[in-house]
Amino acid sequence: MTTLGVLVSGSGTNLQAILDAVASGKLRAKIGVVVSNVPTAKALERAKKAGVETAVIDHKAHPSREAFDAAVVEVLRDKGVDCVVLAGFMRIVTPVLLDAFPHRVVNIHPALLPAFPGVHAQRQALEYGVRVSGCTVHLVDTGTDTGPILAQATVPVLDDDTEETLRDRILAKEHALLPEVLQWIVEGRVHVVPAAAEGGRPRIRIEPRAA
Ligand code: GRF
Repeated sequence: MTTLGVLVSGSGTNLQAILDAVASGKLRAKIGVVVSNVPTAKALERAKKAGVETAVIDHKAHPSREAFDAAVVEVLRDKGVDCVVLAGFMRIVTPVLLDAFPHRVVNIHPALLPAFPGVHAQRQALEYGVRVSGCTVHLVDTGTDTGPILAQATVPVLDDDTEETLRDRILAKEHALLPEVLQWIVEGRVHVVPAAAEGGRPRIRIEPRAA
């Protein structure tokens, strides 16, 4: 069975969606550990309530991003993790983590990438004036929100939206999409097609579910 390691920094509503999907059998995976870089993250309480192991690795206690990632990798390996989920994890990851789990680090971003990467994606969408936004689940590479796209879901942007109302509308989509994509990975249906040419992008092929 696939063992997930979920990295968090904050409220953990996406973690909750994963926990609920595992509990209901929609996501047939085990959560080996939830790792937070923030000791007070509400996500840690959600994990504990569900009986999932947690670890706090404070980035401030490490001299570099690489040293921090090495500490995270050690915990993930120790718990038998084979797929890593960044669920509101507010740190840029380095090749130390990515090379330890090739093509198996997944992120969720609250915008339709490649639009509005980085922080404050909902604010960026409102300031630009787009009429549609949404969320993107993608594999992580060394860029900020640049990795191959696994799936996207859209929401309308309304005239009277605030950052909060747009955030909540997008979050509802995130909570459905992330566990669904993780189940595709569990089923071995996600394939990375290498870039066709120098400087091109690797792409994703999702194998249809067996009939
Ligand atoms: C989500 O909007 C996610 O897309 C982004 O950070 C937020 C995390 O929310 N990467 P939560 O901690 O899962 O509630």
